[in-house]
Amino acid sequence: PPVHFKCPLKLFFLYIEVHVPHEVDQIKDLEIRDSDVFAVTFPKSGTIWMQQILLLLESKGDLRSANMRTIYTSSDAVGWIELKGQPERFTREESPRMRVTHLPFELMPTALTQRKGKVIYVARNPKDILVSFYYFHKIAKFLETPKSFDDFFDKFMNGEVLGGSWFEHIKSWYLHKDEVNMLFITYEEMIMDLTSAVKKMADFLSIELTEDEVQQVVKHSTFKNMKEMSKANYKRAHPNLIDHKEGTFMRKGTIGDWKNHFTVTQNERFDKVFEREMKDVPASFIWD
Ligand code: PPS
Repeated sequence: PPVHFKCPLKLFFLYIEVHVPHEVDQIKDLEIRDSDVFAVTFPKSGTIWMQQILLLLESKGDLRSANMRTIYTSSDAVGWIELKGQPERFTREESPRMRVTHLPFELMPTALTQRKGKVIYVARNPKDILVSFYYFHKIAKFLETPKSFDDFFDKFMNGEVLGGSWFEHIKSWYLHKDEVNMLFITYEEMIMDLTSAVKKMADFLSIELTEDEVQQVVKHSTFKNMKEMSKANYKRAHPNLIDHKEGTFMRKGTIGDWKNHFTVTQNERFDKVFEREMKDVPASFIWD
């Protein structure tokens, strides 16, 4: 299972469990409604972006009503299904229920394969994920501070990071994509043409929006605007969770930052593993 199940959160000098294994096991058996929506991501692939977009789609671009609901605590409007207490809360919630998750396909509700509910899988090029994750480890107090970029590179390649192996994650979902109602979209597509991405998502979720409403959703989910929002940028997160002096959650939001970090040798090693692991996954990525 992904490493993050074992990750305790040190808060107020107490260790609080973030994930409870027997609760995570229960997720497979959850009843799914046709109106349920899951945005699935490997960490650092655009989770908060999807939380923001889903809230805005639901409120037809009205930031004020979307903003009534928090987007980073465990009692999120679009929270993580795998966090402590969430599976139980999910069963009690009225429709429409929207969740994000970093879980692999195998741990998600089996009812999804009966074409109940909808899944939006957001994939990001894994070299940029690695870099984003490295910086996140520097600010997230609940994750080990990396000894060096090289050391973190090895851990990522070995799947020894929160979420486990990126390769296993994407394979687990991509290879089952025809069994579930799934929209597969990339972070890079969203960066390059957010309007089209928002329209694609609205169509997939059967949400009718006017052109003006689409533009409102887009406007409130640009990197620049989200960076200014304290909720999206985790500015209100407790300093025991995020070390605000070390950096910001909304860091760069670009394509190709890996080029500023990978050595030639690391890049060659990455490409070799990518080619081997992804031979059955015809998904294509934009690298820069
Ligand atoms: S987490 O910790 O797994 O929930 O992180 P996650 O939200 O998946 O990913 C964080 C990265 O997504 C970038 N981000 C965005 N990029 C472009 N536009 C928008 N609106 C946006 N919102 C979040 C964020 O900056 C992190 O990427 P990096 O490369 O570190 O900047």
